[in-house]
Amino acid sequence: MPSSSQHLDNIPSTPGKFKMDHKSHRSKWHPHLAKLTLYTFVFFLGLIFVFFFKSPSTTTSSSSSSSSPSSYRSSSSSSDLSRRSLKTSSWGGPNWEKRVKSSARIRTRNGFCVLVTGAAGFIGTHVSVALKRRGDGVLGLDNFNDYYDPSLKRARQALLERTGIFIVEGDINDDVLLKKLFELITFTHVMHLAAQAGVRYAMQNPNSYIQSNIAGFVNLLETCKNANPQPAIVWASSSSVYGLNTKVPFSEKDRTDQPASLYAATKKAGEEIAHTYNHIYGLSLTGLRFFTVYGPWGRPDMAYFFFTRDILKGKPIPVFEGVNHGTVARDFTYVDDIVKGCLGALDTAEKSTGSGGKKRGPAQLRVFNLGNTSPVPVSDLVGILERLLKVKANRVVTKLPRNGDVQFTHANISYAKREFGYKPMTDLQTGLKKFVRWYVSYYGSGKKSDH
Ligand SMILES: *[C@@H]1O[C@H](CO)[C@@H](O)[C@H](O)[C@H]1NC(C)=O
Repeated sequence: MPSSSQHLDNIPSTPGKFKMDHKSHRSKWHPHLAKLTLYTFVFFLGLIFVFFFKSPSTTTSSSSSSSSPSSYRSSSSSSDLSRRSLKTSSWGGPNWEKRVKSSARIRTRNGFCVLVTGAAGFIGTHVSVALKRRGDGVLGLDNFNDYYDPSLKRARQALLERTGIFIVEGDINDDVLLKKLFELITFTHVMHLAAQAGVRYAMQNPNSYIQSNIAGFVNLLETCKNANPQPAIVWASSSSVYGLNTKVPFSEKDRTDQPASLYAATKKAGEEIAHTYNHIYGLSLTGLRFFTVYGPWGRPDMAYFFFTRDILKGKPIPVFEGVNHGTVARDFTYVDDIVKGCLGALDTAEKSTGSGGKKRGPAQLRVFNLGNTSPVPVSDLVGILERLLKVKANRVVTKLPRNGDVQFTHANISYAKREFGYKPMTDLQTGLKKFVRWYVSYYGSGKKSDH
């Protein structure tokens, strides 16, 4: 597979494994008459709606003509969610559809057509670019919420646009939008990376974790299970599911029933929900337990990121220590290695076996650790940053709060290695060097970098 990008070397791929099927199956599953009746009914319902409520927030029927742009507003009235989730998003219209189709167009033989949720996110951006560069069709989906500075997401979006990737602005909870996308495009795969991340933010906004990581995931799975053909799904779980597990390294078979944060609990719930949809509907599902992913275009809420910012500003940085001055360490994993893992998981994903919401046979269900297998104490992380930034950090040693963060993470990656040759190549020093280079070029190295 041709690839001009150096960070995409050695990606295992299985050309020809996934046969494309562009035929339309729609009419096979419902008698024409029933569908016609339904559509007529929906059409008249729509007409009545349009006549009585000329409000722009009216949801247009997804089966109606696409010539007019539709605007969708959540029916959810929970005020807690209104700030960030399910904001009004606009989509639809011929120009929008053209961009969707162009972005999703496969440009290589046996290429995939992938819907990437959370495409304006950190990992979503990197994975989208990697897929696009090797010739796959990629369509992004992102709600651009303001959990962290949305301008960074907009900058990533601009980066993707230059690669020919369109990001649909919308929410995974918007089932009308999802249905529309699956009507327009035959996705072979879904790379589901949209989520509410962060461990401590759950105490401020617990609902957003339920909304994104559970309700949104279920909504996406519902759409996928109804799609024909059903796509294979690879999605982001988290190393945090190991919770209070103390056996190291963490292996996929270890217990994950003691989550230490609501974030972890929702990711664990996702793994169980994945099991259910695999069991009932024959969806092919692969969960990836990411271990502290870092790199250029990273998330500002993560320690390595705000340490860099605060060291440059001369602000004190909290360096956590565990009980009895124990070391707090993380299995930091460089984003290019994670991207290879994501592509490996996609390339080895088997087809879903169901169709039209019905299971036809057993389907693949997997979960992989994607880590670096080399935990580094957080104090070492600070030391590396000091050397790279040439600024002495103002460290404030603080007890690790008991509100979600675990003391130690260490991935056993032998399963991912066996299944798709996953082999992390970047040590923390090398990866942070690339991160700092990006950070300084993006924000500058001076005090002006207030973001
Ligand atoms: C790593 O996981 C594999 C299963 O994938 C297991 O056989 C092996 O014992 C584990 N290694 C350690 C050191 O726990």
